[in-house]
Formats: sequence, C-alpha cells, structure tokens
Amino acid sequence: MGYERIDSRNRQLVNSFLKEHWYTTTMVIRGEEIDMTQTEGFYLAEKEKVLGLITYMVYEDILEITSLNSLRENQGVGSKLMELVVQEAKERRLRKIVLITTNDNINAIRFYQKRGFDMARLFRNALEASRRLKPEIPLLGENDIPLRHEIEFELLL
Ligand SMILES: CC(C)(COP(=O)(O)OP(=O)(O)OC[C@H]1O[C@@H](n2cnc3c(N)ncnc32)[C@H](O)[C@@H]1OP(=O)(O)O)[C@@H](O)C(=O)NCCC(=O)NCCS
Repeated sequence: MGYERIDSRNRQLVNSFLKEHWYTTTMVIRGEEIDMTQTEGFYLAEKEKVLGLITYMVYEDILEITSLNSLRENQGVGSKLMELVVQEAKERRLRKIVLITTNDNINAIRFYQKRGFDMARLFRNALEASRRLKPEIPLLGENDIPLRHEIEFELLL
C-alpha cells in the first residue's frame, strides 16, 4: 500500500476510479468543462484498488485541485493526499492553491478550512450553468441540501 503519482502507466486505473465516483471524466468547474483524464495527481492504492485520489491542474502560478476522494474516511488519507499536493505546489514555486466545492458539501467545507484554506469567492447559482452541460447533476446534494453554489477556497503559499 502506497501513495503514487499519476502517470501514463496507471492512468487507466485512475480514469476508471473517476468514472465510478463522478459518473464521467468530465468535470464542470465555474461553467467550464474540464477533461479529468488530463489532470495530474496522486492516489493511494491497495492491490490495484484505488482508495483515495486527488487531481489537479497547474496554470500560471496557480495549482487548482479538481477532485479529492477518500474511500477510507477518517484515517488520514485525505490529509496525506492534500499534503502531497501542497508539497508539490511549493516545490514548483506556485503562488496559491485553489479549489471549488459546492454549498452542500459541509464535510469538505470543514476539511479545507481546518487545513488552512480560506473562502475566497462565491459563484452564486453556478450549478444552473453546470446542469446545462451535465444534466445528471442532482438538485439535492449532500445532507439533502439544495445543490446551488460553488465556493472557491484558496491557500496562499
Ligand atoms: C473530504 C474527504 C476527502 C476527506 O478525506 P478523509 O480521508 O476522510 O480525510 P482525513 O482522514 O485525512 O481527515 C478526516 C478527519 O479524520 C480525522 N483523522 C485523520 N487521521 C485520523 C486517524 N489516523 N485516526 C482518526 N481520525 C483521523 C481528521 O482529524 C479529520 O477530521 P477534521 O477534518 O475534523 O480535522 C472525504 O470525506 C471524501 O472523500 N468525501 C467525499 C468526496 C468529497 O466531498 N470530496 C471533496 C469534493 S470538493
């Protein structure tokens, strides 16, 4: 069991995980479609089974986290994946890390704030535009909260 960087040899394993957990490898962020098969990232696997995955893109001097999943919750997997990305951004001398989460994801909102991320921007009703591109996005999100807005978090390095 170990943490690995995504590369051409394990890309298929990662893409299957993305499809399984996000239904598709296309993610809509701020109304823009992102091809998740092109993202960089790290994952934790045990016997060819992915247990946790973080993906990101780098543009200008910003690292944007595009997904984070842990199947072994409350055992430090999410924190370790986040730590690997923070280390990567520092090594690449990037200015900040940003990520978007949705208003229903109370668990993620707690997780990021406790790890130094601060709320930077609110994209009100962003999910209306996302649903036009991806109609399968549900109306109700986590905790039965109406899924409506995107919140951008940032960590200045
Ligand atoms: C958000 C998410 C990635 C967190 O992953 P995780 O593996 O549970 O994260 P960790 O285990 O590192 O941390 C979770 C909690 O467990 C606790 N924890 C960490 N290691 C622990 C350990 N060894 N023993 C007991 N508890 C531990 C942490 O203190 C943490 O609590 P805190 O956030 O209040 O500080 C995960 O809940 C998830 O996949 N959610 C669904 C997908 C999602 O919403 N992703 C984000 C979209 S933007």
